Amino acid sequence: MKQYLKMDPWNIIEEGFDPQHHEISESIFSIGNGYMGQRANFEETYRGSSLQGSYMAGVYYPDKTRVGWWKNGYPEYFAKVLNSTNWIGINVLIDGETLDLAVCKVKDFVRVLNMKEGTLSRSFIAETPEGKIVKIEALRFISITHKEIGAIRYAVTPLNFNGSISLTPYLDGDVSNKDSNYDEKFWLEVLQEVTPDDAALTIKTKKLDFHVTSVMAYSLLKNGESLMVTPEMIHKEKYVAHQLQLDVQENDQIVLYKYVANVTSRDHDCSQLLSVGRSLLKSAMEIGFQELLHKHLTAWDVKWRESDIVIEGDVAAQQAIRFNIFQLDQTYTGEDDRLNIGPKGFTGEKYGGSTYWDTEAYCLPFYLSTADASIARNLLIYRYKHLEKAKENARKLGFSKGALYPMVTMNGEECHNEWEITFEEIHRNGAIAYAIYNYVNYTGDTAYLGQYGLEVLTEISRFWEERVNYVPAKDQYMILGVTGPNEYENNVNNNWYTNSIAVWTMKYTLEVLNDLQKNEPSLYSDLIEKLHLTKDETSKWSDIIAKMYYPHDEERQIFLQQDGFLDKDLTPVKELDSSNLPLNQQWSWDRILRSAYIKQADVLQGIFTLRDQFDLDTVKRNFDFYEPLTVHESSLSPCVHSILACELGYKEKAYEMYLRTSRLDLDNYNNDTEDGCHTTSMAGTWMSVVHGFGGLRVQNGALCLNPFNPGHWKSFSFKVMFRNSRLKVTVSEHDVTVSNETETSINVNVYGNDYTVNGLSHISINL
Ligand code: BGC
Repeated sequence: MKQYLKMDPWNIIEEGFDPQHHEISESIFSIGNGYMGQRANFEETYRGSSLQGSYMAGVYYPDKTRVGWWKNGYPEYFAKVLNSTNWIGINVLIDGETLDLAVCKVKDFVRVLNMKEGTLSRSFIAETPEGKIVKIEALRFISITHKEIGAIRYAVTPLNFNGSISLTPYLDGDVSNKDSNYDEKFWLEVLQEVTPDDAALTIKTKKLDFHVTSVMAYSLLKNGESLMVTPEMIHKEKYVAHQLQLDVQENDQIVLYKYVANVTSRDHDCSQLLSVGRSLLKSAMEIGFQELLHKHLTAWDVKWRESDIVIEGDVAAQQAIRFNIFQLDQTYTGEDDRLNIGPKGFTGEKYGGSTYWDTEAYCLPFYLSTADASIARNLLIYRYKHLEKAKENARKLGFSKGALYPMVTMNGEECHNEWEITFEEIHRNGAIAYAIYNYVNYTGDTAYLGQYGLEVLTEISRFWEERVNYVPAKDQYMILGVTGPNEYENNVNNNWYTNSIAVWTMKYTLEVLNDLQKNEPSLYSDLIEKLHLTKDETSKWSDIIAKMYYPHDEERQIFLQQDGFLDKDLTPVKELDSSNLPLNQQWSWDRILRSAYIKQADVLQGIFTLRDQFDLDTVKRNFDFYEPLTVHESSLSPCVHSILACELGYKEKAYEMYLRTSRLDLDNYNNDTEDGCHTTSMAGTWMSVVHGFGGLRVQNGALCLNPFNPGHWKSFSFKVMFRNSRLKVTVSEHDVTVSNETETSINVNVYGNDYTVNGLSHISINL
């Protein structure tokens, strides 16, 4: 854990430059707009440790798989989140010396991520080895109204000399990925052009032929007056630049505005990229930096009005929740149904792939409640479109029918290659099925089931049908050789979560079939025909539902994470010396696998997901047993614990877990933020406020709230969209207020009582 950032409700602030923190900050201060994004790399040269990262959503590289021992069934490639053209770069020479914070003396360094406005700024005073002192003020943003455009204002003021300053804005496509499997570079140059007005670079991936074109232009001011300088035009391989040589007097302020348009072959024909890029750039420059920025922050304002969470009386909690919402909103906007939410968003390259079960299990509820229903629907359609590939994946692994969705994917194909995850973490299929239920339950869009949902549910149920193992001696079904959500155990038999979600899927599929047969008989017949669904299959599902085996312990009255779990040494985590943590950095993998320590919620994940099936005593017994054994070394873990702790009235635990999930990256809890932020788990943080402290559920088509104030907060409020209404729920020490911010009236249930909240009015309930 590392706490070096200042507390502030709307900003993330770093004061003072410590190179040791730089890569962590590069992750935390990342900016993006759903279409592209980047780590908070410096504009000027920096030769210290840094992870360069500029990413274009959906542009990836199928890097040839690298494993020690090839196993049949492994995918041929691992899809890398691809570092592409560095378009923020501006080299600065001060009387011939390169401005580089790795060698300069740095004073008054401040880096700010302004979450309200969606900007990244930095200012500092640097003294070069030769003693020249300059002040730098940089501000940049990636426009959310003009998605291809990024803009930078870079100001340089010489503080103790008259002399020369050269500024070189550039585009550099000669970049690499740190996680490249064979130390290979992934880009080839296609085209470069430098004119006095602009500079352009097109690069393409060595495989798959993704083309990315960046076009840049600049304008210059000296002491507020426009300055015309003839640029020197620089070409190198995969690199174009304009070098601007300026004579300066002490205290002159030089401001460079750098504008860049980035376009890709995902959206345009390759032959059009340069002209599209140029015309987007031209119109951005006509709008100008200030006006572009104004439009950008006005759009952010709207986003915040729809999704802000306000926590009064706890600035650490307030800053953290806004940071999580900000990252989610800038990672996925739902405008492009080919995209998804990668575990690191635009903040790093680790993990590869863009889609994990994280999307369905964690992210969907956030987008369901904070955006139009079409956005969550897009996330579902994304999987529907990958159904054929999921069927191919199942065939590849030897199944005669059904679909196994990939653990990690970019395009529907599995691209992860650790056998214990790729082959065994099959619980992901359950999350994808459950998301369909979640979406339909929340939005009431039952038509989705007939249009798309049932096909996916059927193929997943078919997979489970073939994956279970009938044990005649016991007349029971089992699921052998799996990895549950807890990846600190592999190849286990009867992971309780997996068995439960498999059965749940088959039950829900049968329920959807029954409803369709009753309500839309002709659509039902069409689908039965299309899916070739037989009576034998559905009967088999019913048999599996009736005879599934679930490991449990009679004495403690708890579900067992898997067979044999109780044979382990059950010493709680708190009795371990802290030098053992995090286990994944201190222990051998062998020792981790033999231990009872749980990486992330597993049984508790199941209880959280299928909550309606269990009474509160069952929740309590299982929570009390598993929580002390959990190390939360997956970012996806604390949020589930926080939500269940709220329901159990465990104030301190709920709050502790909330801080852990929400400040995971800001405080670097797991000592890995330099690789990138844990973007998908941020949706879990949002859930811990809205579903945990707010107690939000949807039951029988009604929004139900059971708010719980953790005690550290004067009040908290959150917004949710539900069936054409937007509500603001405020929970203070004395009352709960539900305000309807839209005109459509809505029924809500608060602490078990029904209320109608008319349009543009509110209800208050005393506590
Ligand atoms: C977790 C997985 C998760 C992945 C990506 C892993 O550490 O164990 O459940 O899908 O990270 O977030």
